[in-house]
Amino acid sequence: QTQPESLAQAWQGIFKVGAAISPGQVMYGGTLIEQQFNIIVAENAMKAGSLARAGEGQYDFTTADAMVDWALAHKVAVRGHTLVWHNQSVDWMFDDGHGGTAKREVVVARLRKYIHDVVGHFRGRVFAWDVVNEAFVPDEPGTEQVKGWRSSAFYQVIGPEFIALAFQFAHEADPQALLFYNDYSTEHPAKHQMILALIRDLQAKGIPIHGIGHQSHYTIAQPADFKVLEQHIVDIGKLGLTNHITELDISLHRDIKVSSADDATPELLALQAQRYSDLFAMCARQRDKVSAVLTWGISDAGSWLRQWPQARFDAPLLFDDDMEPKPAFDALIKLGKAS
Ligand code: G3I
Repeated sequence: QTQPESLAQAWQGIFKVGAAISPGQVMYGGTLIEQQFNIIVAENAMKAGSLARAGEGQYDFTTADAMVDWALAHKVAVRGHTLVWHNQSVDWMFDDGHGGTAKREVVVARLRKYIHDVVGHFRGRVFAWDVVNEAFVPDEPGTEQVKGWRSSAFYQVIGPEFIALAFQFAHEADPQALLFYNDYSTEHPAKHQMILALIRDLQAKGIPIHGIGHQSHYTIAQPADFKVLEQHIVDIGKLGLTNHITELDISLHRDIKVSSADDATPELLALQAQRYSDLFAMCARQRDKVSAVLTWGISDAGSWLRQWPQARFDAPLLFDDDMEPKPAFDALIKLGKAS
């Protein structure tokens, strides 16, 4: 029996290839992960709601440590996701203990301690952090926002400086770690402008920012050439930062209804393979500016899209429900070897 080909090997020397994983996947046998990927990120295990649910200064690193230790023992690099996010956050950070909101300086001190503790705990093991996730919403009219900023608790209590503070605290805790701002829809011009403004602002203040994470949750209806995203990656590279594709998936949904596995026709899967190839080809063209590409999950069965916005069918990843490689996987192996 021949060994299946490896994505990480096919793309060796171009950029790292990886996936978001959940604890069970390494604890009950990480063979496929080890074989296919040279970088991982925890899908949920390193968010504040997972690490510090019990209260200030009360951490449970057990699950995250097991994943990180497993990865490093298998020569797989680890991204950290995510230090500051409005979702899967912890209420104690903003609580004044009397049913109201704590003062700004109290919240800043708690944020400092949280970031120092968490980044410090993983210092030397997690090489890159999504320091802040999804702070800008200029293209989402339905979302509560102030001048394009998401009106999160961090924004409301601290103000826009919460980003600079978070990056500063992360740098203090691990001066070697690469620090990223991560967001979805980074191909939208208004969001891109806000990201460029953030980079310039941090650079002017002397606060390190090393990369931008492009979540890249797409549907197969997404334009195939990814031209706009490519230009944005170039712009970011010109400011001296690297780019990671951090949460890639390509949903089968477009204008057609996909409601069961029967709808995942060979034609649709071939189109999905083409979209994956187009994105990877763009990243290969910009290999000096793109240093990692990670999918958001491994097998279709475990994708967040199966739960969002409600329980439904989708098949957005590279491996099917039985962990068998899909046409998109085969296309990426071929493309990587040719690149
Ligand atoms: O852990 C609890 C479990 O104890 C409980 O029994 C169960 C009941 O619903 O919920 C479990 O928590 C769920 C968690 O995933 C772990 O499975 C949460 O309800 C669920 O909301 C959470 O969803 C995650 C989501 O972030 C949270 O907003 C998804 O798995 C995860 O894929 C998704 O990831 C985000 C990125 O972090 C940021 N970018 C967008 C991306 C997709 O939304």
